[in-house]
Amino acid sequence: GRVIFSGIQPTGIPHLGNYLGALSNWVKLQRNADPEDELFFSIVGWHALTLPQDPQELSASRMNMLATLLAIGIDPKRSVVFHQDDNQCHTELAWILSCVTPIGKLRRMTTWKSRLADSRNAGSDSEVDESLLNAGLFTYPILQAADIMAYRATHIPVGEDQTQHLELSRELANIFNRTFAARKRFFPIPTQVNTPSRRILSLRDPTSKMSKSSPDVQSRILLTDSTSKIKSKIQASVTDSILGVTYDPVNRPGTSNLLTILAACTDESPEEVASRYEGKSHRELKADTADAVEELLKGPREDFERIRNEKGYLTEIAKQGADRARERSSATLKEVRTMVGLS
Ligand code: TYM
Repeated sequence: GRVIFSGIQPTGIPHLGNYLGALSNWVKLQRNADPEDELFFSIVGWHALTLPQDPQELSASRMNMLATLLAIGIDPKRSVVFHQDDNQCHTELAWILSCVTPIGKLRRMTTWKSRLADSRNAGSDSEVDESLLNAGLFTYPILQAADIMAYRATHIPVGEDQTQHLELSRELANIFNRTFAARKRFFPIPTQVNTPSRRILSLRDPTSKMSKSSPDVQSRILLTDSTSKIKSKIQASVTDSILGVTYDPVNRPGTSNLLTILAACTDESPEEVASRYEGKSHRELKADTADAVEELLKGPREDFERIRNEKGYLTEIAKQGADRARERSSATLKEVRTMVGLS
């Protein structure tokens, strides 16, 4: 059987990019999994700490994310749903992996490079800038590898933006196997499971991805957005002044992004959807996209509002998930300790 693992940061309510790019895929995988497949879905609080967080907000986001996962259809009886920060095995393994990770590999991570570029834009020369960034931002991909490897996971559903991190995870699994494991394949080499729906872009700047960190709240649709908010954000989305609707991600990123969203909602390809809109206007495309998104989010939104107030239930689910996660990963760590000589 497969061991499926994925994670999401508890930074605020998830947006449409998270949902179409990752979370809806988790639910599909759960639905289509073989009985012997194992599924682990983790809310990765330690990853969130790499950027400054308001402690109260983070604490609320942590619970809201759990409520979200349950609301969209993750079944805690079938899948192990848990908070990463409830399971110390991840940090222990991350430390051990950090001792076999070449720094050069971390420096090549585009997420790190873009943080560096940001701080360079803020002024001064590169050495000074790097020294101001926190070490967690730099070592974050090692922790991600540890998340995966603690369960000896084989399949990782994530969006395209995580490809480079997944590559590092594969390298670290290989390095560990080569260095320590007499049984050469102790850690499986994890495969990325790509979501069929592509990258979802910002509604305001369709050259960048829809993200939680953009200061412009109009750029993203949240899972909790009301019908009218969904409508107004999509109506105000940036497209172009070309007549008609065609799918052309390079030259028409805004229009193509709406087609991608609509296609994801109706389980079609963007090209298929585009062929129906050839002679139509942006206005029609926007109206239909807004309706489709509303239809998609209506159920999860209602369930979320209900579940988020059931504090006792959420606490109990978190505890059960943590127990199951710990049980599974402590078996891995026990073997790892022996292999590296710490037992
Ligand atoms: P995070 O929390 O940034 O994003 C969660 C998931 O959402 C996907 N995603 C998108 N997909 C399409 N379009 C977008 N605009 C978009 N924005 C986000 C991401 O690809 C991701 O799948 N480092 C990870 C969390 C993590 C993890 C792991 C994942 C930690 N450990 C182990 C897998 C396995 C992250 O920050 O995701």
